[in-house]
Order: sequence, then structure tokens, then C-alpha cells
Amino acid sequence: MASTANTNSKDERVGAQAPILQVRNLSKAFGAMLAVNDLSFEIPAGEVFGIAGPNGAGKTTVFNLITGFLQGTGEVRFEDKNVTNLKPYQICHRGIARTLQIPQIFSTLDVFSNVRFGAHFGNKHLKDGNEAEIIHRALDFVGLQDDKTAIAENMDLFHKKLIMIAAALATQPRLLLLDEPIGGLSPAEIDPLIKLIRKINQEWNITVIIIEHLMKVLKELSHRLMILHYGEEIRTGPPAEVMEDEKVKEVYLG
Ligand SMILES: Nc1ncnc2c1ncn2[C@@H]1O[C@H](COP(=O)(O)OP(=O)(O)O)[C@@H](O)[C@H]1O
Ligand SMILES: [Mg+2]
Repeated sequence: MASTANTNSKDERVGAQAPILQVRNLSKAFGAMLAVNDLSFEIPAGEVFGIAGPNGAGKTTVFNLITGFLQGTGEVRFEDKNVTNLKPYQICHRGIARTLQIPQIFSTLDVFSNVRFGAHFGNKHLKDGNEAEIIHRALDFVGLQDDKTAIAENMDLFHKKLIMIAAALATQPRLLLLDEPIGGLSPAEIDPLIKLIRKINQEWNITVIIIEHLMKVLKELSHRLMILHYGEEIRTGPPAEVMEDEKVKEVYLG
């Protein structure tokens, strides 16, 4: 398909698409503490949706609830089907992949085997005949082809993050959840990762939810941004507008 998308900007037509993800009245309590409190939002297909908020706001817990790592109350619908409280591998088979805030990789295995693990965990289309192609496509896409035989624990944080992204892509998701993919990187590593995330969204047509602290990153990447505070939505909208919101400045940016 010919694409006229400018890879340096966001596609402004995205909002017109049907929702790929619907989160309704999602809640999760840890003891007496409500980490996520009656949260509802919808994401149209094709969007890059940012989530930000203070530490402990419940951002990672939202990802854990969507991906079945934690059980909560409320409803999660993906492509108009109820996926609430399915098991993590079942949710991945449906087409939702994620990366973790702190890279979790198989340290003693090489890069190729790490990505292979991702494919085996979450790709329901995997067959003997197509496994290598799927893994190589993911490695090529993130730029790890030359490192495929390197042992994962010998790679730096930037490359560990790429391994995790490649493993997620090898599941062939239509929705990718990225939990602070930029955190801990040097300034020189940030721009290549922003470009990669934009390519994932625009070239592979994957809807992206990104948890991030750096406003520069959210402004460049996300069509809309939601600010969470104590598990509740403070404001959702275009990043520039959200960052000007008085309440957002008070609880987060201030
Ligand atoms: N498995 C858990 N058990 C108990 N408390 C948790 C657990 N996971 C998260 N929390 C608590 O829930 C709140 C939200 O955490 P989290 O979703 O990780 O926040 P964020 O990602 O926004 O920094 C925090 O107070 C955190 O300590
Ligand atoms: Mg977190």
C-alpha cells in the first residue's frame, strides 16, 4: 500500500477510526489502596496514546490489567470483544503485546532466542515454516540483525529495550503497550527510539499506548495524552492542551 504519511509527524486522521481498545470502569485495589479507580477511556485504531502522571499514579497497573498480568474489576474490550481477565498469553494471541518498565530478558540467551521466546509466547500464527521469517523481520525492524548472536546480558540498556520491543513485535500485535520505553536512556539514544516507535505506528499500523515522563517525547509522538493521578483521569486531550491545564500543572508538571 502506498503511504503518503510524513514519518516526522503524526497522522491527524487517526481520531476518525473505530476504537480498537475500550476500557470501562476499570478498578484495582491493593489492600485498602485503590491503584486504579473507576477508569474509562477509548483508543481509536492507529493512535499513539500517551499516559503520564506522578510515580504511583497507577499507570503500570493499568497495563497489567489490560494485559491480564493482574485481575481487577471493570471491562476491557479489544476490537469489540471482551478480553477482561483473560490470561496474558491469551490476550497476546488476540493481538495486544507489551514491554516492561524494567527490561526483562533471558540474560544468558542470545538476542535471536530472546525474540524467539516472544514469538512462542504470544504469536498464534506461528508455524514451523514461518518462525524464522517472523523473528528476522522483527530483528531487522529494530536494527538488531547484526547482534542476533550476542548474549543478551552483555547488551546495554538501549539494546535490551530493543530486544524487548523486537520480542513484542514478533507476536505480531495490533496494539502495543510501551511502559516507559525511554526511561534511563541517554539523550543521544532518545531520538532513535522516538523514530522507531513512530515507525511501529505508521509503517506497521500498530496502535501504541506509551507510558512516559518526558513531555518532549509525548508531545512529539502522541495524538492524545491522558494524565493519571491516584488512579483517576485528570485530563485527556492533545498533549499541548493537556500540558496547559491548570490541574495537570498542579498535580504533575508543577
Ligand atoms: N503488585 C502490587 N502489590 C501492591 N501494591 C502495588 C502493586 N503494584 C503496584 N502497587 C501500588 O499501586 C500504586 C500504583 O503503582 P503503579 O501502577 O506501578 O504506578 P506508576 O506506574 O504510575 O508509577 C502504587 O502505590 C504501587 O505501590
Ligand atoms: Mg510504572
